Amino acid sequence: MQAGREGRENEGAPVRDALGGAVDALGAAGVESARLDAELLLSQATGWPRERFATDPDEPLPSGASRRFAQMVRRRVRREPVAYIVGRKGFRGIEMEVDPRVLVPRPETELLVEVALQLAPATVLDVGTGSGAVALAVADELPAAEVTATDTSTDALEVARANAVRLGLDDRVEFAAGALPARGSFDLLLANLPYVSESDWEGLQPEIREHEPRKALVPGPTGLEAIRSLLARIAADPSLARAAALEVGAGQDREVAALLEQAGFDRVEARPDLAGIPRAVVGHRS
Ligand SMILES: C[S@@+](CC[C@H](N)C(=O)[O-])C[C@H]1O[C@@H](n2cnc3c(N)ncnc32)[C@H](O)[C@@H]1O
Repeated sequence: MQAGREGRENEGAPVRDALGGAVDALGAAGVESARLDAELLLSQATGWPRERFATDPDEPLPSGASRRFAQMVRRRVRREPVAYIVGRKGFRGIEMEVDPRVLVPRPETELLVEVALQLAPATVLDVGTGSGAVALAVADELPAAEVTATDTSTDALEVARANAVRLGLDDRVEFAAGALPARGSFDLLLANLPYVSESDWEGLQPEIREHEPRKALVPGPTGLEAIRSLLARIAADPSLARAAALEVGAGQDREVAALLEQAGFDRVEARPDLAGIPRAVVGHRS
């Protein structure tokens, strides 16, 4: 198959030509990671590992793969995220099934799981669980921890519950609708809540703006509305969390650190992501 500029099919074409056509089409559509994405989609379409494309570039595509690949390339040309097209995204050691009801889990969010591993809490609350990535990774990596996860979106909770069942972690994680569970106090609260301001939203890539759920990303005009509301509730009921780690957007760490202190946490510190941006703000109680 040759997936030409428009992602046309050409049954039986060699891998090299199929990939070449797709890379051209994706590049022309403004996709920065055109080669990688083309390989990921071809791997999904053929069921072959990506390494095989380098070792057997002259191999003809198997029957049906050309059509599947062309369809996927057309979706990616419209800037749909690869994770929605292939239906999954790796997070820590597990794979999450994802669709447009939930945010695609980001690598920087793994920082929240690292905080949990360091603190080794017995009870963990993941607020705004989305696909369930943070809660399920914590359950996977801290087998003794009791994990609770909430989300205000019932659609997201459906995805998270399905991921828990598929991963065999459904007896380890309790899901609750809303911002906070009806009762309970937790050793560690983790939250990757929406934190994009309305003005920043306009400048985001089409993958996010046109395909991911806006409510999962934008809480209001300033970007801090959901975090403020959560910390106000903790300030009113400090027994809810003994420690907290919140993911924040670039430049929000100081304001969120101050909010954590106002909510009664001390030893508040920001941890950087791999790009050096303060990304998780962590607070404890003495
Ligand atoms: C940025 S997404 C993060 C999803 C997931 N934790 C992750 O990191 O991939 C935020 C999630 O929080 C949910 N949400 C939004 N406002 C909320 C609130 N006030 N309380 C709880 N969840 C909320 C959204 O529905 C969405 O699923």
